[in-house]
Amino acid sequence: MEQSTCCTADGIHVAIIMDGNGRWAQHRGRPRTEGHLAGAAAVRRTVEAALELGIGTLTLHAFSSDNWKRPEQETGPLMELFEEYLRGQIQRLVDNGVRLHVAGRRDRLQAPLVEAIEAVEEATRGRRRLYLRLAVDYSARHALWQAARMCGTADEMPVFERLLARAVHEEEPAPNVDLLIRTGGEQRLSDLFGWECAHAELLFLPVLWPDFGAEDLREALQEFQRRERRFGALVPETGVESLV
Ligand code: FPP
Repeated sequence: MEQSTCCTADGIHVAIIMDGNGRWAQHRGRPRTEGHLAGAAAVRRTVEAALELGIGTLTLHAFSSDNWKRPEQETGPLMELFEEYLRGQIQRLVDNGVRLHVAGRRDRLQAPLVEAIEAVEEATRGRRRLYLRLAVDYSARHALWQAARMCGTADEMPVFERLLARAVHEEEPAPNVDLLIRTGGEQRLSDLFGWECAHAELLFLPVLWPDFGAEDLREALQEFQRRERRFGALVPETGVESLV
């Protein structure tokens, strides 16, 4: 497994683009917000499963900067759902040794949500069993633009890489993504995780996010272990042996 310049937890880094809430609700003749509610339940299941499987870092893409283009009837309840999740899970996260960080812009979020983010980040700081990252109002291009501005003029590539990796993660270090999963059947990145996915294995699953569960995550890890990762070299690097 490739190690990046910084790492807060052992184990692999799995990132998930959680797609398909809207269709899940549509198939049931229900409003889209119900799909997001069911999606929140899938988030809780997935975090539990990640703990059981010994995943080191789990990044869940919850809301891209482009998602602001959606009507307020959808974005409003979504933001409330994020806040509810953060406030409701805080003790459980602490008890389970989960450190949580919310990646993305905060200047466009409502104050109560930012307060909830800060509270959960503070409460879970220093936990090491699982590093959970939620991407909210996240844009890889925006993150890279900000990072590039912070890097100034780094003459040497290793220096630039180190600075950029730090800046992209907003001073919150995370290892590179090993496995990127996207549910919902679409096969695109949607302006997510540009830098840290440079060597990620990609897995596109047809399952709609609210139906995603522990078994899907386990199968995804099994598929990941079957992949041969060479990082451009001729000799394959060994995968992670003891996850599933
Ligand atoms: C994309 O599916 C999903 C979102 C934009 C929101 C993600 C939110 C959740 C998974 C639930 C709450 C999360 C937390 C962290 C509590 P879509 O709605 O675009 O689905 P569609 O492509 O079927 O329309």
